Amino acid sequence: TLSIIKPDAVERNLIEEIKQEFKNKGFNILKEKKIKLEKSEAEKFYKVHQSKPFYNDLCSYLSSGPIVVMILERESAVVENRKLMGATDPTKAEEGTIRKKYGISIDKNSVHGSDSLENAKIEIDFFFKD
Ligand code: CDP
Ligand code: MG
Repeated sequence: TLSIIKPDAVERNLIEEIKQEFKNKGFNILKEKKIKLEKSEAEKFYKVHQSKPFYNDLCSYLSSGPIVVMILERESAVVENRKLMGATDPTKAEEGTIRKKYGISIDKNSVHGSDSLENAKIEIDFFFKD
């Protein structure tokens, strides 16, 4: 699956702590890189959300500072990563999840994770195809 540590978490120096959360749940980090997206790249990445009212703010935010993109491997990686991340809104996320622990708000929710195997492939290609 593809995981992103978003700008709010990178800014608060949470990279190593969040990577440890994945490792504790049996994920191997196969590849990772720290990058900063152009807004146009964020718009491409979040294209599925282009009709949503939060699309513009979301793309500005994702391109507002450095992020860490990672390929995470384990059995049932997509589903297990979504469980570990918790609900989109940190106030609704379960105890022990990354978004509950580190998320600031529904937009600054610290991590992204692919929502299906199909999208995982697309998202991995987006960042690591070269
Ligand atoms: O990230 P996740 O798959 O849980 O949620 P999404 O529905 O695919 O939305 C993508 C991202 O848009 C979220 O992670 C939030 O950062 C942001 N978002 C927002 O800012 N306001 C909302 N009402 C919903 C989502
Ligand atoms: Mg999503």
